[in-house]
Amino acid sequence: MAVVLWRQCLPRAWLCRRAGQGCGRHYRAALCAELKQPLAIEEVAPRPVRPHEVRVDVHFCGVNFADILVCRGQYQERPHLPFIPGMEFSGTVLETGTDVSTVKKGDRVIGMSGFNSMAEECIIDQKILWQIPDKVSLREAATLPISYGTAILALEHRARTQPGETVLVTAAAGATGLAVIDVATNVLQAKVIAVAGSDEKCKLAMQRGAQSSVNYSQGSLKEAVRKLVGTGGVHVAIDMVGGDVFLEALRSLAWEGRIVVVGFAGGNIASMPTNLLLLKNISAMGLYYGQYRDQNFPVFSKNLSSALQYCQEGRIQPYVGKVFKLEEVNDAFLHVMQRKSMGKVLLSLK
Ligand SMILES: NC(=O)c1ccc[n+]([C@@H]2O[C@H](COP(=O)([O-])OP(=O)(O)OC[C@H]3O[C@@H](n4cnc5c(N)ncnc54)[C@H](OP(=O)(O)O)[C@@H]3O)[C@@H](O)[C@H]2O)c1
Repeated sequence: MAVVLWRQCLPRAWLCRRAGQGCGRHYRAALCAELKQPLAIEEVAPRPVRPHEVRVDVHFCGVNFADILVCRGQYQERPHLPFIPGMEFSGTVLETGTDVSTVKKGDRVIGMSGFNSMAEECIIDQKILWQIPDKVSLREAATLPISYGTAILALEHRARTQPGETVLVTAAAGATGLAVIDVATNVLQAKVIAVAGSDEKCKLAMQRGAQSSVNYSQGSLKEAVRKLVGTGGVHVAIDMVGGDVFLEALRSLAWEGRIVVVGFAGGNIASMPTNLLLLKNISAMGLYYGQYRDQNFPVFSKNLSSALQYCQEGRIQPYVGKVFKLEEVNDAFLHVMQRKSMGKVLLSLK
């Protein structure tokens, strides 16, 4: 609905710009008008907030791998064109609807908006906003909703990771990968084998807490893991790459190991030899974080609250790799697509 309303606003904003006259307040946003094409920066006329909604002054917005998939038409959810991408943000409350009781003007918040966050302003339902505790900066907070929410969900809720267990994580130097390392080592007291595509990425993963690393561009992942942990294997694997990397991670699991399918950054979806599950009593499970918002809101909300609490307590330390300005959004997308990014990539709206 937000997208539809925004579309209704757009011609007005265009008219204003063409006529070179003001039409009242407006804000800048990244616009996907055509799939697989560069985003444009447009001026958008704001709409009124509904009773349960909050208008937020966006400070930082996460740039996720999934944002790029959405703008290519390759994601599970496909918004109508034109739309504003951006699934998460941090910012301050500008205005609240008449039924809003959870936040007030000036509060610092994070939100998981689904879309619409790559903009100076974002209107969002109060239900999917969380207050940022005092000790957490707006910049740190912007890293939490998707990357840390996914890491906590994967490790705690899905894989039920126990202290002392070994966790293998692929794309380990990415935003979600580093969050998995952080939560596994510093919250759950697990040991992490970081799997990444270059020595530089492996080095960063080790600096951020992994006990060992494997550069999977240099030979068999399964053999490298065997050298590290012996034939026993790893207890948990969190895979974000898919294809052959998923299969090698699956083959690296210990008896009663758990593997969580989080993404397919490599572009291939593997077919699984299910005999491997039987032989070692393995559990293979999927994770689609956004679905928890609709299917199991208490778990969804608990994840976000845990991420904020861990950050407030200093137990996790998010790593921001690079910050781009809104008008550099296409450079930010390229940075991620070309596998140059390490840690979280953010857009700064200030
Ligand atoms: N299911 C969910 O709810 C959920 C939530 C969050 C993220 N995800 C998924 O998890 C994955 C990682 O997300 P992220 O936001 O953390 O991304 P990211 O920081 O950009 O990490 C992506 C990494 O994937 C690796 N990769 C492997 N093959 C690639 C290829 N052909 N093209 C590009 N990258 C490739 C690269 O690391 P190396 O160079 O080390 O291989 C790259 O840095 C994505 O697939 C994303 O969709 C899913």
